[in-house]
Amino acid sequence: MHCAELNPDTMPFPASMREPEDDLLEIDRETFQACFDRRPFLIGHELTNHPLFEISRLLRLCRSLPETSVEYNAGNIPICVAPERTPGNGLSADETIRRIAECKSWLVLKYVEQEPEYRALLNRCLAEVARHSEPHRPGMRLTQGFIFISSPRSVTPYHMDPEHNFLMQIRGSKRVHLFDGRDRSIVSEEELERFYTGGHRNLEYRRNCERTGWTYDLSPGSGLHFPVTAPHYVKNGPEVSVSFSITFSTPDIERRSEVHKFNAYLRRCGLQPAPAGKYPWRDRLKSFNVRAGRKLQRLLAERTS
Ligand SMILES: [Fe+2]
Repeated sequence: MHCAELNPDTMPFPASMREPEDDLLEIDRETFQACFDRRPFLIGHELTNHPLFEISRLLRLCRSLPETSVEYNAGNIPICVAPERTPGNGLSADETIRRIAECKSWLVLKYVEQEPEYRALLNRCLAEVARHSEPHRPGMRLTQGFIFISSPRSVTPYHMDPEHNFLMQIRGSKRVHLFDGRDRSIVSEEELERFYTGGHRNLEYRRNCERTGWTYDLSPGSGLHFPVTAPHYVKNGPEVSVSFSITFSTPDIERRSEVHKFNAYLRRCGLQPAPAGKYPWRDRLKSFNVRAGRKLQRLLAERTS
């Protein structure tokens, strides 16, 4: 999930200019250093009883967001489903939230930083993440928040996301199945290229990856790191679930996405491009080309407008 246009660079920095506050997240420094953007790991959080996640407050948030920032559908679906075949639930977003306990649905409120209170909370959480990420992956930007509200037993189908993500379980429980996005037998180069050139996030689930990957049971107070483009699907527990996803980008993953974009172009020209990461100097060249192309398009658009 991403929407670069909606949120300008809103780095929650510098921390020195912020009032001292109690930490909301519990992050183990060694685990973060060893695993960030490589494999999932658990964190803790203090958001469980936060008033911004009460259903009545979430309803108000939903009404205040633009329609394009609210996505919802039926939640009693298989783990692998083509996006165009994802069934609706026949309700409005408002009704979906009010009847979430029985309407067998899945709903996400996107870019919740559009509301100042949620923006403040997102920035506070990400400032804590940044203490760990900045020394290794500097340049936190495009900070965005998503709130998932889902019915008992609902399913989020198999998909991947383009940003660094920490998912905090606020209410209810979830079982998250995650797979190694660096393994090309799980996610192919072609799938990555499709994804980065506007393809849908849902992926084809390959039965051969069933015995690989990681499974985490999340309950209130626990959170999970999802590495960039690590495929996953999620099954809700027997209660209503509310979870808060805090996400951000860094220049290195933006460069990676540009390499996949350029590789998609080379493949369309009938070539077999080297995978991203294999030849760093070629990657730099590919990324440069994509940026130069983007700049040229912008200049041409300005001239013709
Ligand atoms: Fe996801």
